[in-house]
Amino acid sequence: MKKKIILTGDRPTGKLHVGHYVGSLRRRVELQNSGEFDKIYIMIADAQALTDNADNPQKVRENIIEVALDYLSCGLDPEKSNLFIQSQVPQLTELSFYYMNLVTVSRLQRNPTVKAEIQLRNFEASIPVGFFTYPISQASDITAFKATVVPVGEDQMPMLEQTKEIVHKFNSVYGETLVEPEILLPENSACLRLPGIDGKAKMSKSLNNCIYLSDTAEDVKKKVMSMFTDPNHLRVEDPGKVEGNPVFIYLDAFSRKEHFQEFLPEYENLEELKAHYARGGLGDVKVKKFLNNVLQAELEPIRARRNEWEKDIPAVFEILKKGSQVAREAAEQTLEEVKAAMKINYFEDDALIAAQAKKYAK
Ligand code: TRP
Repeated sequence: MKKKIILTGDRPTGKLHVGHYVGSLRRRVELQNSGEFDKIYIMIADAQALTDNADNPQKVRENIIEVALDYLSCGLDPEKSNLFIQSQVPQLTELSFYYMNLVTVSRLQRNPTVKAEIQLRNFEASIPVGFFTYPISQASDITAFKATVVPVGEDQMPMLEQTKEIVHKFNSVYGETLVEPEILLPENSACLRLPGIDGKAKMSKSLNNCIYLSDTAEDVKKKVMSMFTDPNHLRVEDPGKVEGNPVFIYLDAFSRKEHFQEFLPEYENLEELKAHYARGGLGDVKVKKFLNNVLQAELEPIRARRNEWEKDIPAVFEILKKGSQVAREAAEQTLEEVKAAMKINYFEDDALIAAQAKKYAK
């Protein structure tokens, strides 16, 4: 039977926030604990982070430990998931060099994520080549481990499309070698893209609108109580708008039935709470207090695990070091298959040597 293998990862450019959590981290931990996978690789994508932070290596360096701590505190277990650092697996760069021959410049220019990022970073006039080609490097990340499942956010969809195209092209030119991956998106639309606490479409460090997994309980509470809601819901009696209201989007992403029993027993479920808000008579403060309770319940165990790991930072680096060694071995296996398929495995191919010897035999 075909093996089930997960590969996914994050750029180490900052601490991870609750958007990362509902968008991907929570799902990874569930998948890990399902026991359904033969191998799970979780990568800190430092090389990719450098493609648009070339002048700021210190930022990338410092965030390796932040992302690793966030991973471990969410419940990724190094016994079950292999955590590693991208740059420590040189096979990935080697694969990228060969895949580059299979992708056109115009195809890269059409990649919607790359397009959006170029705009965002004002790269239009001077796009670094490394940045421009990072979708190819991402295809290497995925195929090096023969990943069958890639759990990521919606913004990564174009990367997966591009990877599949590279797999097809490679296999059709050089013979069946690479495995086609499948994307696994978050379960509901609230989890696809959690807005910032200011109601802006995206949580981002520079907008200062994130709730981080490593925030203290007080910080989380302060942020929740200051959250943007429906600006026209001025008095408690007024009808309120639920759609697009960040507080309710967060509840869509985080709340479960048990939370109502525990923190807000006068409501059966989220639908009832939403209906009350919509018809009027329910104040923002009450909803925010509920959201705070829900978030604290989810984040408290994460914070507690973080505190434990923070006491043993060298152990965290050791996990990454061992994980990188395992990742190198797996990627090397694929690289050898790739080189054999591409006929650049000269010294492993006795038939080649024999044939050339025969040709020149007098
Ligand atoms: N692009 C991802 C991000 O922005 C990180 C990443 C790099 C990745 N390589 C990957 C994700 C391979 C999934 C699979 O966070």
